[in-house]
Amino acid sequence: MVYVTRKSHFSAAHRLYNPTFPHDKNEAIFDKCNNANGHGHNYTLEVTVRGVPDPETGYVIDLKILRDILESEIIEKVDHKHLNYDVDFLRGIIPTAENIAIVFWNILESKIPAGELHSIKLFESDSNFVEYFGEPVRIPKYDLSNSSNSKEIPV
Ligand code: NI
Repeated sequence: MVYVTRKSHFSAAHRLYNPTFPHDKNEAIFDKCNNANGHGHNYTLEVTVRGVPDPETGYVIDLKILRDILESEIIEKVDHKHLNYDVDFLRGIIPTAENIAIVFWNILESKIPAGELHSIKLFESDSNFVEYFGEPVRIPKYDLSNSSNSKEIPV
């Protein structure tokens, strides 16, 4: 078995908060990540496919094909977007790296034409990343369409 990885990059904004929590609790848990207008990350996405190299090509999966799938299914939809508001497949999901990785797996799993999806590794920064191997996880959905629990700014 050989493990083949394609690395991609995207930049996006998000805000971490749970609309069922009072403001103080969101501040305590999510701290700066709860900033009402969001904040940004330069994400790095590593998608690993495992398989046996094809005897005639030597490829587990043609990395150009994997690149194109990642580009059309993921990167084009999240790059330079606000993950709370702009991305259909993330709607209602608290956009932590953990949850984003699970959603990306669910999108990609059935679209890999050779080998099998092995892992999704998502870096939010050089120091912080998550890795997901496809164990079933249910992600709760919330109404994140407004920021009514955010701190009111007097005008
Ligand atoms: Ni963040």
